[in-house]
Amino acid sequence: MTTDSAPATFDAHASGYEGPRRRLIPPFDAFYGAAIDGLAMLGRPPRRVLDLGAGTGMLAARVAAAYPDAALVLVDGAPAMLEQARAVLGPDAELHVADLSDPLPGGEFDAVVSALAIHHLDDAGKRDLFTRVCTALPPGGVFVNAEQVAGPTLCFDRRYREWHEASARAAGTDDPEWAGALERMRHDQCADVESQLRWLREAGFDAADCLFKDHRFAVMVARRAGG
Ligand SMILES: C[S@@+](CC[C@H](N)C(=O)[O-])C[C@H]1O[C@@H](n2cnc3c(N)ncnc32)[C@H](O)[C@@H]1O
Repeated sequence: MTTDSAPATFDAHASGYEGPRRRLIPPFDAFYGAAIDGLAMLGRPPRRVLDLGAGTGMLAARVAAAYPDAALVLVDGAPAMLEQARAVLGPDAELHVADLSDPLPGGEFDAVVSALAIHHLDDAGKRDLFTRVCTALPPGGVFVNAEQVAGPTLCFDRRYREWHEASARAAGTDDPEWAGALERMRHDQCADVESQLRWLREAGFDAADCLFKDHRFAVMVARRAGG
């Protein structure tokens, strides 16, 4: 982990991470709810779920609540974020401190999920990860990527940014909280939804769609053929 990387930034601010999330993600419940809903594309309860860029376990905890029998495997580059996930998820969760560009943990997963993490990779890194995720899944396996996305053009992107700040401030975010969010967003390398759906299909998924979108918050779901 380099000192100016996204994981280093999150590691340094791990203890204060969760408090402002509802203010900083204006469609918080709908966004995470759609991510859990996306797992239904599997057609049965998942047995083993991999969460990429799991942080403090905000998405993994929702997977555990919806599917209490599923085994959880979390990957994140920030050890202090994962320490908090351990406290929430208990001793059975498998936690890996690793970079998203590293090989994925071994074993079979029937679902891979991620929230607000993959946009920290550049576009080549995103595409490489999509290919490795597809390869790690069996036929019929599902990938749910709940993400912060770019607008399709600069004017949409500008509007998304204005909307995001106005919505967060309306929910109670003050100047220091917004400055902290901007500090973390320095590492963002967001891509638009259409490009990401195309990259998912090019990575080997036979179907990919955007199940939820509110300005810059989108939930994309891809399914591997067969199953
Ligand atoms: C905005 S947080 C999201 C955490 C969690 N998924 C959630 O929904 O709250 C982004 C997480 O991705 C991790 N991350 C960012 N880039 C990474 C990389 N290249 N390798 C591993 N983890 C990374 C950060 O350490 C951080 O914990």
